[in-house]
Amino acid sequence: MSENFYITTPIYYVNDKPHIGHAYTTILADVLSRYQRSLGRDTFFLTGTDEHGQKVEKAAQKRNVEPLAHCDETVVRFQELWKRLGITNDFFIRTTFDFHKEVVRKILQELYDRGEIYRAEYTGWYCVGCERFFTEKDLVEGKCPDCGREVSAIQESNYFFRMSKYRDWLVDYIQTHPDFILPAFRANETLGFLRQELGDLCISRPKSRLAWGIELPFDTDYVCYVWFDALINYISGVGYLQNDTEFARRWPASCHLIGKDILTTHSVYWPTMLKAIGLPMPKTIFAHGWWLTGNAKMSKSAGNVVDPMAMIDRAGVDAFRYFLLSEMSPGSDANFSEESFISRYNSDLANDLGNLLSRVSKMILRSGGVVPQNVELTDIDSELLKTAKDAVSVMADNLAQYKPDQGINAAMGVVRAGNRYLEKCAPWQLAKSGDTARLNAVLYCAAEALRHVAVLLEPVMPEKMAELAKVLGYENGFICTIAELAEKESDLAGRKVSDTAALFPRIIVEEEKAAEPKAEKKQKKQEKAEKAPEAVELITIDDFFKTKLKTAKIVAAERVPDAKKLLKLQLEVGSEQRQIVSGIAESYTPEELIGKTIVIVSNLQKATIRGVESSGMLLAAGKGDKIRLVTLDGDIPSGVDVG
Ligand code: MSP
Repeated sequence: MSENFYITTPIYYVNDKPHIGHAYTTILADVLSRYQRSLGRDTFFLTGTDEHGQKVEKAAQKRNVEPLAHCDETVVRFQELWKRLGITNDFFIRTTFDFHKEVVRKILQELYDRGEIYRAEYTGWYCVGCERFFTEKDLVEGKCPDCGREVSAIQESNYFFRMSKYRDWLVDYIQTHPDFILPAFRANETLGFLRQELGDLCISRPKSRLAWGIELPFDTDYVCYVWFDALINYISGVGYLQNDTEFARRWPASCHLIGKDILTTHSVYWPTMLKAIGLPMPKTIFAHGWWLTGNAKMSKSAGNVVDPMAMIDRAGVDAFRYFLLSEMSPGSDANFSEESFISRYNSDLANDLGNLLSRVSKMILRSGGVVPQNVELTDIDSELLKTAKDAVSVMADNLAQYKPDQGINAAMGVVRAGNRYLEKCAPWQLAKSGDTARLNAVLYCAAEALRHVAVLLEPVMPEKMAELAKVLGYENGFICTIAELAEKESDLAGRKVSDTAALFPRIIVEEEKAAEPKAEKKQKKQEKAEKAPEAVELITIDDFFKTKLKTAKIVAAERVPDAKKLLKLQLEVGSEQRQIVSGIAESYTPEELIGKTIVIVSNLQKATIRGVESSGMLLAAGKGDKIRLVTLDGDIPSGVDVG
């Protein structure tokens, strides 16, 4: 029997307006859940809202309503967004649900009875924004070490959980369980934190200061600290102390997905709480990076949040899901800008995928409307089919390691390979020349590549990929699962293809609209040039050798901020490293460039482009909007002379 899969997102502060940071974690959990379900694993996906604490109490007071009424109104923002985004969570937990409060109270009483919770005087600092206590030495320049806001001095009698006694056990657990905290550098961060003295955790708030919380069962003058209450959702939401069978079926969780700012609460508070309760640890706590806008963390307090609804209205739900998952490599931060969103949408979805689909469907419709059968394959055909097959294991491996961006990259690699294949095989010429056997083989292979793409990207873009499946003749919009792609024979041949409106209509940005007449002129000029090539001035071989061309390997690539066409490339040229800025950002994503060996002009004077130094120029061919790099036909090291 296959192992169960239980995944959680953090429960979001109900007070906040959901932004793309929240949307990202939830979409990531959704994609992983869809994939695990497709493998036949008994999957459970939990998300919800964190509804107690000072921030909610204050917001409710400000509006002159009861805290619960305030939560009831605000929770809808999350629930509606998840519905709109096609999130397939199995349950939505609210920490104000009675059953959750009951579980928290039972755990508190049990730990108190066992002496795991004790009462003592407390002096320290409190950050209302983060709802966390800090000691003097935690503060950074007298402010909250996490959010930088003012903290308040606090002295009061409180209840404490004996967290400190689990320090050595936790260090050992982290060291002996490499999958416990991922990515691995986050485990090191936690171990670094644990090298300092670990105090006990204050788990109470006097009602005189904060009344909106779960009352302590052993002292009615206090409520429970909001983090202690919130973390318990991960077990109360799957039946703990309510339904033993259900709980045994789900726990331990396979993965708690979190953002890097809540690493300590999840990698230190939660494991020590579970240890004290006597429950096994979750398999993995995976901390992703932040979405930034203009290099600052996106957050309500910074006032720089991007509203997911606005982005969905602009390009549709699936394109938004695709963008978030392909743009962020989950270990690192990612920058959000509307330009990068539109540029990725236009280049990956409208151009690359859209072109492949419209070429394949139109050509098949023109030649009978049915995916050809019994075709004879040549090397170039087998190569394309192999690229598609290889992408299946790349996607599966990367989804298992929480790296959907790499899997998406492999799927888009199939799309690009499909387009290159069509350009090389030119089925339109084969149709003209009447070479039906070859035409059939080409159309079959291109459609088969598309079938792979539709299946591979289904967890990310479920609606659009169902539409794509329908175009390929799968009437109910379902082809097969990712695992079946590798295991089962293709059932594509003989299917009736249907016509399609553009799946991803290009987004025309204002500046493009303004530039349209110019673009038309440019195209006309180009067409004219193609018809009547002008006489070119001839050069000698010595003139040519003045230009020193060399091979160079791209080792890193990133976008130049605020310049939608520019990429900054780090190149290895033999033993030398150099940086080149190039206007290819609309034709290539940084990721797909890494590892490519290209040709550069190595003896060009240095230039500064948009404030970034560029040492050399790369060779590329451009027609219209499309730019393709000059690459080498086979393996050759970097730093070799070309000429
Ligand atoms: N309520 C707590 C979590 C309790 S879980 C037992 C909380 N809520 S939150 O709403 O502030 O944050 C929820 C999640 O959103 C966290 O994982 C946080 O990292 C994530 N994000 C908030 N802003 C973010 C970005 N700008 N980018 C990516 N994720 C970020 O903390």
